[in-house]
Amino acid sequence: GAPVEVDISNLEPGHIMTVEWRGKPVWILRRTQEELESVEAMTGEDILRDPHSEVEEQQPPFAQNVYRSIEPEILVVVGICTHLGCSPTFRPEVAPEDLGPDWQGGFFCPCHGSRFDLSGRVYDGVPAPTNLEVPPYRFLAENRLRIG
Ligand code: FES
Repeated sequence: GAPVEVDISNLEPGHIMTVEWRGKPVWILRRTQEELESVEAMTGEDILRDPHSEVEEQQPPFAQNVYRSIEPEILVVVGICTHLGCSPTFRPEVAPEDLGPDWQGGFFCPCHGSRFDLSGRVYDGVPAPTNLEVPPYRFLAENRLRIG
């Protein structure tokens, strides 16, 4: 598949956009300062299964950090659940009634209830085995990405 170039200059903080790459949806999320702080605070292995992104095939080396990204604000992940391939839903709100008090915003898979945080890191105790995949990408300019 060919690489995809994306202009993210209109992507507001707290918003997400979806582009297609190799037939897969890729999400690009511009995280707010508060969202970055919640991601930084979520490092305990009692909440997340792989908080430091140590499962190597789930991201390029540049994304083996708490933000799982090059630029902290910009998350780029493949929008496919690592359980059986459903499409998770973006749920940025904190502690909604249906997702519980430990929920700090992220992605919820309605198929079997897998939960991922705002870095795409999988919560413990759900069917999905690994964090969401970060595809290869780089910045061509401040607001221009090349995926693939
Ligand atoms: Fe997402 Fe099963 S496919 S939880």
